[in-house]
Order: sequence, then structure tokens, then C-alpha cells
Amino acid sequence: MKQQRNHKHATAYLIGCAILAVAGTGAAQTFHPDIPRAWDDKEVQHFELPLAQRDRSPRHLTAGEYYALKVRPIYRTYPVYAPGREPAGYMESLKQKEPEIVFDASRLRTREDWISAGEAVFNASLSPSSQIPAGDPITSEGIIPYGRYYIRQKGVVEKGFDSCAACHTRVLPHGTAVIGAQLDVEAEHAVAGFYKQAASSPEGSQQVRDFEWLFSGVPWITPREDFEKSVTINELARRRQAMQAGVVERQGTSSSNPSHVPSLIGLENIRYFDATGLMRHRSIADLMRYVIVNYGLDFIAHYGDFQPSPRQLVFGVDAGVDGTRFSDEQLYALALYIYSLQPPANPNPFDDKARRGQRIFRQQGCAGCHTPPLYTNNKLTPAAGFTVPEDLRKTDDIMNISVGTDPGLATQTRRGTGFYKVPSLRGVWYRNAFSHSGQADTLEEWLNPARLKEDYVPMGFHLAPGPIKGHEFGLKLAPEDSQALIAFLRTL
Ligand code: HEC
Ligand code: HEC
Repeated sequence: MKQQRNHKHATAYLIGCAILAVAGTGAAQTFHPDIPRAWDDKEVQHFELPLAQRDRSPRHLTAGEYYALKVRPIYRTYPVYAPGREPAGYMESLKQKEPEIVFDASRLRTREDWISAGEAVFNASLSPSSQIPAGDPITSEGIIPYGRYYIRQKGVVEKGFDSCAACHTRVLPHGTAVIGAQLDVEAEHAVAGFYKQAASSPEGSQQVRDFEWLFSGVPWITPREDFEKSVTINELARRRQAMQAGVVERQGTSSSNPSHVPSLIGLENIRYFDATGLMRHRSIADLMRYVIVNYGLDFIAHYGDFQPSPRQLVFGVDAGVDGTRFSDEQLYALALYIYSLQPPANPNPFDDKARRGQRIFRQQGCAGCHTPPLYTNNKLTPAAGFTVPEDLRKTDDIMNISVGTDPGLATQTRRGTGFYKVPSLRGVWYRNAFSHSGQADTLEEWLNPARLKEDYVPMGFHLAPGPIKGHEFGLKLAPEDSQALIAFLRTL
């Protein structure tokens, strides 16, 4: 994929040169980016929805404090190969390389330059670690696309596993990496393994508790003493183990209410970020802000009198809070890159069965919420039991009906706004982990009426047998109609 992109860039560049040579002027090729000031105090106040418990909504750094942080250098990164698939002499050649800072806004001329600089930011790792699990899906070139090697010091090759690519990449069955798509790695199983090991010593156990509290503590729901008393390390390990590929305990979610990883493809037209619609997406600047918050600032925000951590090392890794920031240029390039991501070619034909499914989709009223062409109306629905606050009710984006799914993520976590957004159904053919916490693992399961039974055992994330509640649309269809509906969904 990367090779393809680079190839495309190279071709575009050559064509660009040819046009320049003919026209004899560079003006047409030059791109003048209009880079917004991302961390603007006034804008920051409005871009997040209030939390369900309003007085616990995060208070962030001021623009003055934020811009005083040092800018992160973006180093060149290199692919990680699966064992036995490295080209001959690969490691040795990496050891000879000088560290190279690849992001330099002053050298970017065209829109394509900016996009490919954004790709470098997407691949950049902020903290080294050796946690790239072996045996993950690999591409046909033998590459593990979730991690990258990088070099900050000549002779020292580090692995990075915290870039955007680490969670927003998927490998299709025939071995193509789809950049921006939902993660297909059981990322949390590795963490479960660490936890089980740590449980054998008091210090290790304490480290796990501190880590979980930093990641997911919600003192207004569960005070720390109760959290310490009620949950063992082995239980925390069991919960991580219950998260299938595509589901992670993103910071601010929790071990009992994790989130599925969304696809970033087609994001430009999506109006709310996160399953709970936590952040508004009104402009490119909001996407830049989303990254700022998720790469450090949410850990150090104040949720009422609670601050997860001023700075914390977790298993020796800095949890994104290393006192540095991205520059606005880096974030702008990253956002342009994300907007440029394209879906893979869809192998599912729009045949008679799919056409019939399309009719059923309309008849069942799916389009009222999953409205074409985006297959979302870009609105929020209240989680079961949540009363929509008056001021939010007045905006167009709130539907006053609940689809009745499990309210945990929306009401019990630091990402909880009280709402679930209507997700886009585009690209469901290359996703799993449906619904906000990935409770149903396939479309068949999501549309199977058996999932409502009391003794049901979900294929997706669950901590105990029980129904996958809510969203009872399309559950009363005859089997062949249900299959046709699914065939249609797979063409989107
Ligand atoms: C550890 C895995 C992980 C990493 C690393 C990661 N993300 Fe995400 N990302 C997630 C998860 C999980 C969500 C969904 C969170 C939720 O629903 O509350 C998400 C949500 C998003 C969203 C919101 C999309 C939507 O439609 O809701 C954007 C934008 C995003 N990530 C961009 C990025 C960028 C850019 C980077 C790198 C700077 C990055 N992510 C790194 C896991 C990750
Ligand atoms: C009233 C609005 C509404 C209607 C009608 C509706 N949906 Fe949904 N749909 C939602 C919401 C909200 C979610 C997210 C629920 C959650 O995360 O808890 C969702 C989630 C989904 C998902 C999971 C997507 C993902 O990324 O996790 C699929 C698939 C889906 N709907 C298909 C359908 C189909 C097919 C129909 C018609 C039979 C339908 N929906 C009708 C609002 C609606």
C-alpha cells in the first residue's frame, strides 16, 4: 500500500514536472495551505460535547500552556517484517542509517507533498517499545503494517507501536494493507498477558492498578477505593482477553466498556468523532484538535477535581504525555492525509440479491438513520436512560429516540456524553466488531434475532453470557431477506 502510494506520488510528481516544463510556470502547482491555529481557547471550549455528568467535562490546557510545549520531531520510519520475511541485510542496513527528521514544512510545495508528509506523521511513533506481537496479519510483502522501525540514534533500531497506523490499519485476506481501516489484531490480548505476569508480585499488581486508573478511572462513578477493592488484576486481564480484534480499551473508555476502532476512511464528511460523539468535526481544525487531545491532553485534563495523571510512565513507556506536542503544520498534514485515504476496491457485486437487500433496507426504515450516500444522518441518539439536556435538544444533530443499546460506554466513562452516534455503514464489508463496544462480531450476528435472548453468548466483546440489547431493526426478517439485506450492506 505504502509502495503504491509512493509510486502514485512519484508519478504525480513526474507528471507535475512535465506540465511545469510545458507551461513554464510553477504557480499552478503551488499549494497554499490555510493552516488553522488548532489550540485556540475559544474553539476548544466548543468542540467537545459535555460529558453525561456535565460538571466532569474535561478542562484542557490553555493555548498559552499548550503552545509552550516543545514540538515533536517526526523521524523517518521503516517497515517491520514478519520473522523470516526480511530482505537480506535489512537490519544491518537500518543500523547504518543516520536518524532523519522527515517533517519540514518549509520544504512542502504541493498538496501531494503535504499529504505524504502527513503519512509520515501517521506512521510516526512517539515512544519506543518492543510490543509488536508476532503472528499478526501480515501483508503479501511480509510486512507487519501495525508497527514501524525508527532510528533516533545511529545504530539503535527501535520499534514503535503507538502510531496512528498501529490501530487504524487492517490487512485484507489476500494480504493488502488498508490504511485507515479498522484494526484486525487482538491487541488487548498482549496486555492481558502482561497483567497475568504482573499479578505475581505486589509491585506489578500496583503498577497495573495505577495504569488502569490512569487509563479509565472515573471517580464520579467508581471511587478509587472501590475500584481497588472490587477488581482483581486477574479480572482486569480477563476483561482485556475478552476484547476481540478491532476492540480496544482506548484511554477514557474502560475494561468493561471498551470501544471498537472506527475506520478513518471517508472521515471528511463525518460530523462527530468517537462512538459517543465526544468531539465535533466542523472543520479540519477539529480533526487536528482530536489528535491533540488523544495524544496527551486527555490524560492531563481536569475532570472536575480529578486529573488522571500529570505524567506517567506505563511499563516504561510514556503514555503519550511526554511534554511535547505536534506542530500545527504536522497536524494539518496529518489531517489532509486522513482525508485522502481511499477504501479498497469492493469485491461484492451489486447483483439481484443486493438490489433486493436495498429495497429491504428502505422498507425497514434503516435509511432514516443510515441515510445514503454517507449511510449515516450524522446525528446522535441518547443512550438508554439518558435524558437529553435542554440546550443540546435544540440542535438539529440530536435525535430524541434511543436505539436502546448497552449504555455503559456513553454514561460510565470519561468518553461518555450520554449519546451514541449513528455510525456510517460504508465499508462494513471490511469491518467486524459492530456496535460501540464490538458486542456483535459480524453483520450476521448483528441481524440475528437470537442475540436478544437472555442466555445468548455473543461472538463479540462480552464479560458474561447475555443478550446484545437494542437496535432491534431488521431482526424480524425472513432468513432470505436478512441475507439479502446483508448482501446489500456488503456492497457499501
Ligand atoms: C491504541 C489504538 C489507537 C491509536 C494508536 C490511535 N487510535 Fe484513533 N481511535 C482508536 C479508537 C479505539 C477510537 C474510537 C474511540 C471511541 O469510539 O471512543 C479511535 C478514534 C479515532 C478517530 C475518530 C473517528 C470516528 O469516526 O469516530 C480519529 C479521527 C482517530 N482515531 C484518529 C487517530 C489518529 C490521527 C491517530 C494517530 C495520531 C490515532 N487515531 C491513533 C484507537 C487508536
Ligand atoms: C433510529 C436510528 C437507526 C435506525 C432506524 C437503524 N439504525 Fe443502525 N445504528 C444506529 C445507531 C445509533 C447505531 C450505533 C449503536 C451503538 O453503537 O450502540 C447503529 C449501528 C448499526 C450497525 C453497526 C455499525 C457499526 O459500525 O458498529 C449496523 C450494521 C446497523 N446499524 C445497521 C442498520 C440496519 C441494517 C438498519 C435497518 C434494518 C438500521 N441499522 C436501522 C441507528 C439506527
